[in-house]
Amino acid sequence: MKPVNIGLLGLGTVGQGVANILIRNADEIKRRTGRDIIVTRAAVRNQGKAEALELGIDVTTDSQSLVTDPNIDIICEAMGGDEPALTLLNLAIDNKKHVITANKALIAVHGNDLIDKAREQGVSVAFESSVAGGIPIIKALREGLAANRIEWLAGIINGTGNFILSEMAEKGRSFEDVLAEAQALGYAEADPTFDVEGIDAAHKLTIMASVAFGMPLSFNGVYTEGISKISREDVEFAAELGYCIKHLGVARRRDEGIELRVHPTLIPEKRLLANVNGVMNAIVVHGDAVGPTLYYGAGAGSEPTGSSLVADIIDVVRGMDADPMHRVPTLGFQPDAIAPLPILKAADYRAAFYIRLQALDQPGVMATVSGIFGELGISIEAILQKEPDAAALVGSDKATVPIILLTGLVQEGLIDQAIAKVQALDTIIEPVTRIRVETL
Ligand code: HSE
Repeated sequence: MKPVNIGLLGLGTVGQGVANILIRNADEIKRRTGRDIIVTRAAVRNQGKAEALELGIDVTTDSQSLVTDPNIDIICEAMGGDEPALTLLNLAIDNKKHVITANKALIAVHGNDLIDKAREQGVSVAFESSVAGGIPIIKALREGLAANRIEWLAGIINGTGNFILSEMAEKGRSFEDVLAEAQALGYAEADPTFDVEGIDAAHKLTIMASVAFGMPLSFNGVYTEGISKISREDVEFAAELGYCIKHLGVARRRDEGIELRVHPTLIPEKRLLANVNGVMNAIVVHGDAVGPTLYYGAGAGSEPTGSSLVADIIDVVRGMDADPMHRVPTLGFQPDAIAPLPILKAADYRAAFYIRLQALDQPGVMATVSGIFGELGISIEAILQKEPDAAALVGSDKATVPIILLTGLVQEGLIDQAIAKVQALDTIIEPVTRIRVETL
């Protein structure tokens, strides 16, 4: 059978992973697909640098010529960013090429249009590598769990953020110090605020939620909070209470609608997710029939991400000659069954909370604070009061003390009210810290 020709957009960390896997595992992949798969051409920014890799691939700086090349069957996008990637993928689909991309921002924000256009042209759009690097989570949601009504999923889906939190917890290192190392190791996005402010995780959560619940990609509905305000103290206090702080993406189906949220989260240290460290990712998916299932693996890196891209290439090759109607639907549900679902606002979420207050060390402070929570019907499940600072040793009335509360499950609007009241007390001297708690 005629070989399948791949055009690669980008020959950086991920593009090289794809090329290396296709070359190294060519025989094994042919046994799986019945076809030779060849990276025929690659479009790059720096031709000399790409040629120096000596991968035996024809390289060009003219990316338009690649996506319109009649000899290319599949375009594999590993360049990242919004433009020119979006224009090039649109052009490739116009030219009836199947497209495979690792670009989560592009799928999360423009995926609905790309998928519609690809359907009109009878070609596939595939994006396994856009979520959680080497973990086949899209395939699991779309195919392995297809019998289930998915109820919720929660995952550590940004390797850089997890690396930072793990190093802070294990080695007491500062946020800035670990971020610099993550950038040097190539985990971080070109703009690392995407990692630490949760935007990268929000892109990935958008994609998983769409495939889990059969809803259009809804990036604007994701509530996003990053990890840049997590302090070493919070990591230590959480540990004393038996919790780990992880940056989670959570998608939960409730009767009232869908919660889509990315934020730092306390999780009990005994949960498997609490033990996912470094650049590793993991996702728990809860289906009504199967119960909880866990997916774990490298969330970033050249060959882990390349593994998912090549798996998509293999899927596309296997279905290339099939009637497009008989392919697995791109979002896992029939296109006319994809339906928008109400997306809940943060004030309507339900979660338990870790609250840290810095209070003047005076009689009655704790009683006043717990009174505020009690009046709003918020149950306090645990209290940790630490020693006051050094000023207490000399009997100063300015001595302060950290107080940590764990609440029961509560609607977030009520927690907002309680925190506003507590913050207004003269005895509370720093902004109140609050972090959601998930028992999973
Ligand atoms: N910057 C991303 C991360 C890369 O750290 O997870 C993989 O998407």
